[in-house]
Amino acid sequence: LIAFLQPKRLVGRRVLVNAGPTFEPIDPVRGLTNLSSGKMGFAIARAAREAGAQVTLVAGPVALPTPRGVQRLDVRTAFEMFEACQAAAAASDVFIAAAAVADWRPLQASGHKIKKDGSGRPPALQFTENPDILATLAQGERARSGALFCVGFAAESHDLAAHAQAKRARKGVPLLVGNIGPQTFGQDDNQLLLVDEHGTHELPRASKLALSRQLVAEIARRLPPATL
Ligand code: CTP
Ligand code: CA
Repeated sequence: LIAFLQPKRLVGRRVLVNAGPTFEPIDPVRGLTNLSSGKMGFAIARAAREAGAQVTLVAGPVALPTPRGVQRLDVRTAFEMFEACQAAAAASDVFIAAAAVADWRPLQASGHKIKKDGSGRPPALQFTENPDILATLAQGERARSGALFCVGFAAESHDLAAHAQAKRARKGVPLLVGNIGPQTFGQDDNQLLLVDEHGTHELPRASKLALSRQLVAEIARRLPPATL
């Protein structure tokens, strides 16, 4: 019932959310990934939908049900997530980058399972950097013209406020959401620090859904007036 009583602050808005980790294959049975349950991003997608938005959720490999009324696209690698987000962003008003994107991927995934060669020496893996989905979209034409409002996330282990403010500037986003990890990873509640041009604002410990509803309200009041 509470879901239906949420203020409809995002009616007529199209919101893109990415969530969860990415998985970068090393060979057919192994890969590199990040710690992320996807719960925060899924809660945000749900809260945006409750607020009346049309929501697209690009999800890495997670074990979570799709929030009601949300369009979900499943991806595996950072590159797949990048392409799916880029395509969806062209028709979005808001992009919320809640995914824990792997910073690197193996330069070349082996087509067959890598076997131990008996020498006791591990294989030498080479890595290359993944595209930065948030920075690319935040610096793209749509965001710079004011048509796409981008929101970043940062999980930091220490000095949250300073790191979050620096990351906000580096990514070129108007709003960045910080949380202290990894204690909150996989949990149902969290505590957030919103960082914008004016400074920081704390959202005290609450469920990820309750925090998501507050975040949606914060985003809604920062959007330019809807065009009819
Ligand atoms: N992000 C992204 N694409 C990447 C890496 C990060 O879109 N390849 C996004 C994340 O979804 C998040 C924000 O950038 O919204 C910050 O991610 P984070 O890992 O904290 O920042 P990085 O720039 O990767 O810096 P570092 O990991 O070195 O702290
Ligand atoms: Ca990173």
